[in-house]
Amino acid sequence: MTYRREEHVLIPESDLEGMSVDTLAVRAGQIRTGQLEHSDAIFPTSSFVYGSAAQAAARFGGEEPGNIYSRFTNPTVQAFEARIAAMEGGERAVATSSGMAAILATCMALLKAGDHVICSRGVFGTTNVLFQKYLAKFGVETTFVGLTDMEQWRRAVRPETRMIFIETPSNPLCEVADMGALAELSRANDAFFVVDNCFCTPVLQRPFEHGADIIIHSATKYLDGQGRCVGGVVVGPNNLMEEVYGFLRSAGPTMSPFNAWVFLKGLETLPIRMRAHCDNALELAKWLEGQGAVDRVFYAGLPDHPQHGLAKRQQSGFGGVLSFTVKGGREQAWAFIDATRMISITANLGDVKTTITHPATTTHGRLSPEDKEQAGITENLVRISVGIEAVEDLKTDLQRGFEALENYRQGTV
Ligand SMILES: Cc1ncc(COP(=O)(O)O)c(C=O)c1O
Repeated sequence: MTYRREEHVLIPESDLEGMSVDTLAVRAGQIRTGQLEHSDAIFPTSSFVYGSAAQAAARFGGEEPGNIYSRFTNPTVQAFEARIAAMEGGERAVATSSGMAAILATCMALLKAGDHVICSRGVFGTTNVLFQKYLAKFGVETTFVGLTDMEQWRRAVRPETRMIFIETPSNPLCEVADMGALAELSRANDAFFVVDNCFCTPVLQRPFEHGADIIIHSATKYLDGQGRCVGGVVVGPNNLMEEVYGFLRSAGPTMSPFNAWVFLKGLETLPIRMRAHCDNALELAKWLEGQGAVDRVFYAGLPDHPQHGLAKRQQSGFGGVLSFTVKGGREQAWAFIDATRMISITANLGDVKTTITHPATTTHGRLSPEDKEQAGITENLVRISVGIEAVEDLKTDLQRGFEALENYRQGTV
């Protein structure tokens, strides 16, 4: 079929087939209105109108496709969903009000009482709480295992295991999971393999190519990239996403059109941002390794990282988050953090602005002391989400932290 470009409301998917993630980030999913706007339109409306009562009935009855109410569908949100689905190489995406809502919706849609989940121990602290405290109340039990220890994963499998859930690389220790091996284990046991791809984004890692069934994002992080909005998204095959959509439509934690619009704008620059984050993080990781007050640096881009080779095979970059332990405990870690002046002390990550966090008392603060210990969240651990400022300026600011530690060591504080 030929079309005139001026009638070109939705760029047909076939026009973009085979194009790179860099192009899809800018072009996929745009829905143009009759005004033929160049940028994405925003539809801040809670409901949609019909030409007649009969049409309203047909829409509600599912006989005619189209929008009804923005808790169900909204054109700006659909544009965001189509773009991220194209970038991940998935059939369909469903947007949510937050990354946690994406995880919750996936579990509520696909699990039932009596089912069992195996989850990696180092996941984001709130994910851990969601599984341990809330899903457990509804009869879904979770076993936590070490992300990189395949023997632990195999031993944890039960006849009722229905989901394997991971983050890779993990937060904050940058451990890398073997997705191929976990996909195989999931398939052999008829379980869904769910990957939180928040740290890498589809620019650096495409989990469907390694056997994932479902991909989850906190869009709050790199997809936005400028710390403006909270949102999430689930990507997967049509049949599973229909279930996730059904839960969201009934329960309500859907994405607002304004947030979807911000995320669409964020996605346009995601590929170039991710490359800048990776370059800065690698440079800083090497620099941190040479500092006397640092015990250990956790970053998969370093050749001595235990999963460096695996990360190279699975990822096209090592990501923008690193962590390190300072010599000492909480006091030293806090003194280091407090001495920085430019870098933001905040728990968010994936922002163009570099952020610094003490995981043990913030992101992972709700974990029990035993869970923290098992997950390697020690009191002397500091996490940096490396932004895109000039790396030399980041070193200047971090140097203030090292000076504070030196003063501490000499007893001059
Ligand atoms: C890896 C990961 N997944 C999920 C989430 C939850 O996302 P949100 O804060 O958007 O609910 C976070 C938040 O920090 C995260 O780091």
